[in-house]
Amino acid sequence: MINILKRNGLNKVHAKICSLAIINAELVGAPTHGLSRLKMYCDRIQKKVINPKPKIKIKKISQSITQIDANNSIGFVAADIGIKQAINNAKKTGVGLVGIKNSGHYGLSGYYAEQAVKNNLIVFCFTNAPPAIAPHGAKKSLFGTNPICFGTPVSNKIPFILDTSVSVINRGKIRVAARTGKKIPEGVALDKFGKPTTDAKKALAGVQLPIAGFRGSGLAWMVDILSGVITGGNHGGKVKDPFDDFSGPQNIGHLFITIKPNLFVGNYNQRIKENIKRIKKLPKIKGVKEILYPGQNKFNKYKKNLKKKINIPPNIVEDLKKLNA
Ligand SMILES: NC(=O)c1ccc[n+]([C@@H]2O[C@H](COP(=O)([O-])OP(=O)(O)OC[C@H]3O[C@@H](n4cnc5c(N)ncnc54)[C@H](O)[C@@H]3O)[C@@H](O)[C@H]2O)c1
Repeated sequence: MINILKRNGLNKVHAKICSLAIINAELVGAPTHGLSRLKMYCDRIQKKVINPKPKIKIKKISQSITQIDANNSIGFVAADIGIKQAINNAKKTGVGLVGIKNSGHYGLSGYYAEQAVKNNLIVFCFTNAPPAIAPHGAKKSLFGTNPICFGTPVSNKIPFILDTSVSVINRGKIRVAARTGKKIPEGVALDKFGKPTTDAKKALAGVQLPIAGFRGSGLAWMVDILSGVITGGNHGGKVKDPFDDFSGPQNIGHLFITIKPNLFVGNYNQRIKENIKRIKKLPKIKGVKEILYPGQNKFNKYKKNLKKKINIPPNIVEDLKKLNA
């Protein structure tokens, strides 16, 4: 991957940042955000809508607040610089706030959240995405699947990371189903005529449904404001689809908020441990062995997958061949 990205004009450091993020997606069991996107990123570089040699501007607004203009870099690079800056800001002042504009698709929010958690910080990560969800009451999609991500250090090695799209399922899963000819579950999308569909291609042409009706639509809107409106990034349905629209850069916005956990209480570690313990001790419904906290399932998958080979489906092998891997 590093060689592929370098051949597409990225320097070695940036190529490595991207490759680590892509491999991480495969390992945590999110292949929809892994190798299946590599060709798309390279196509966007070739079509000059991702800048492989960005001049990224980092503007310090205060000790806590930083604004980044990513100059249409690949999203992984902008986000990597952004989260590291947010971590440094919080370590100095207790709170870090980093807004990024002119970025691209950055993969999994949890990947960046994990970096902050490993530095013993609480974290929120927001990014907007191309239109996929219709705002409540509208016929046309406008909001992205706009993930909401929150992380906190806990007393053991497994980070607590809630990282969820605000659509019933993430768009990557629908794209993979469309490419492999599989059906999608009921209740996740409507076709372009507003009828429920399990046909992935029809779903991509129609709208995805938000989680919890108007509440999910409100959350998608909130993320669009936090990622796009406040940062200077695209918003209100203007983020281009990375797979289908090569008419210009995406100008995605990201927002990272980092917080030292001991700002109000000296014993956060003990309190979070107690909090999780109380929840895990609750009586469980039939068939549930353990009440998991968010992030535990992905950590377990990561550990298992580290010992296994990564299974690359034939269509992605084809992509890799086209990229001269
Ligand atoms: N960059 C983008 O534009 C973009 C857009 C949408 C989604 N994404 C990413 O796609 C990824 C997938 O999102 P998703 O909504 O499909 O995630 P998901 O449904 O797999 O998981 C959502 C959350 O629920 C938790 N969870 C899962 N099973 C659980 C259980 N049994 N008990 C307790 N918690 C559990 C997970 O740890 C996770 O925090 C995310 O990492 C997100 O950041 C990126």
